[in-house]
Amino acid sequence: MKISIIGGGGLVGSCAGFALQAGGLVREIAMLDVNREAAEGQALDLLHGASVAADQVIRAGGYEQVATSDCVCITAGLRRKPDESRLDLINRNVDLFLSILGEMSQAGLKKDATVLVVSNPVDILTYLAAQRLDLPPAQVLGLGTLLDTLRFRSLIADYLKAPPTQVSALILGEHGDSMVPVWSSATVAGLPLEKYPGFSPHAAAELFNRTKGSGAEVIKKKGGAGFAVGLAIAEVIHAMALDSRRVLPVSTLQEGCYGVRDVAFSVPTEVGRHGAAARHEVELWPKEAQALRNSAGVLRQTLETVLAGR
Ligand code: 2OP
Repeated sequence: MKISIIGGGGLVGSCAGFALQAGGLVREIAMLDVNREAAEGQALDLLHGASVAADQVIRAGGYEQVATSDCVCITAGLRRKPDESRLDLINRNVDLFLSILGEMSQAGLKKDATVLVVSNPVDILTYLAAQRLDLPPAQVLGLGTLLDTLRFRSLIADYLKAPPTQVSALILGEHGDSMVPVWSSATVAGLPLEKYPGFSPHAAAELFNRTKGSGAEVIKKKGGAGFAVGLAIAEVIHAMALDSRRVLPVSTLQEGCYGVRDVAFSVPTEVGRHGAAARHEVELWPKEAQALRNSAGVLRQTLETVLAGR
């Protein structure tokens, strides 16, 4: 499987490239960036480790790489300025993102290619990509709340001193302020989280708030997320490469799951070779289902603002 990473010269794109190299499952990684020197530098740095990592083709390139890619991962985007409102950032990123979609369409995408949107606001941009690209919507995914879910699980494990890989807890909805913690199905080693030694409603509130603020916390401390988002990207792309149908909370254009339509956000989604193979409307607590519908409403409102005039 060949992956092109648009934004490969930056922190998120380069961490995604490293996670895919370390995973050794994809055959080819192409690093694309408007800063060509940076893309070449990242590709060279990855290439240097190839002899111990995996037998892959690693290169830097331009949009010509898109035409032969099985998956195009879009990580390019502008970061919020200190005094900038979220909506101002959205408008600047939407314009940049629409120009990237135009370049991709011009380069030509394989009919069975998938697109993985990582750039923020990821749910808004996933909706636009599903709308504007000449691909079936199921082949257009957004990283969505998978990154939040990884953070949620890791922070719960760290608090309980439990093995992180044995914590199962989901975040659904918007990758943003209206994200929804799903406590109803959370477990540690298959045991109900709410009965696990050391867990409490107070801890639950604290852990979810810390998860929700993790993006801003990492940006403040080190300028932006890299490692965890790279691993999340690899988790999705490896599910495509293996056609493993792993059920992941990723963002896709919704067509009725939990009563939600015409927005893109994260629900439990089977990910296979050609993207979203199925979505699972697993029963939630009533307050969780209501919060999910609220999250869809928030996204719908933002979409109307962003789409006005475009
Ligand atoms: C994050 O949550 C920036 O969306 C990215 O770290």
